[in-house]
Amino acid sequence: MTSKLWLIGMMSSGKTKVGRRLSERSGFPLVDTDDQIVEQAGMTIPQIFATHGEPAFRSMESEEVARIAGRSERLVVATGGGAILDKANRTLMRETGLVVWLKPSIASLIAKGKTKNRPLLLGHADLASRYTEIWEARKHLYEEAAHMSIPMDGKTRRQAAEEIWRLWQAP
Ligand code: S3P
Repeated sequence: MTSKLWLIGMMSSGKTKVGRRLSERSGFPLVDTDDQIVEQAGMTIPQIFATHGEPAFRSMESEEVARIAGRSERLVVATGGGAILDKANRTLMRETGLVVWLKPSIASLIAKGKTKNRPLLLGHADLASRYTEIWEARKHLYEEAAHMSIPMDGKTRRQAAEEIWRLWQAP
């Protein structure tokens, strides 16, 4: 069993909720990179984007991934949807654990997607095309980062967590 279980995937793919379930199931703590960044910065994510810009947010995110990767204990990690943008993050995640891609269909992401607290979606009236644009730009990076992907459509978050817990324990 690897030290970290990294959950990656698009905004609204269920990383935090599945992470919470996995943490309950496994008994290992959940760390959420977005929460850590907010705590460190003393600002919300929209405030960080508005005040310092996306590049500053991305460096904070990379610092957080590196900090978590450097911890010795077993952890469930819910990452922000863009954590895979940085090559060093992708490498670190793969080297320190099992990287699992939560993969709902784009249609269900669009149906469920919430703009609240998500600066990359705010101000985009056509959410469907915005999600599609982000998906097109990133899907190869999720693919590259992930050891495995979990289709999420027609599955509860609990079922997804059970599936991942079994995979994580597998020799
Ligand atoms: C982002 C996803 C967000 C958050 C930030 C940027 C992204 O996290 O890190 O708004 O680039 O996809 P969630 O995936 O938890 O919404």
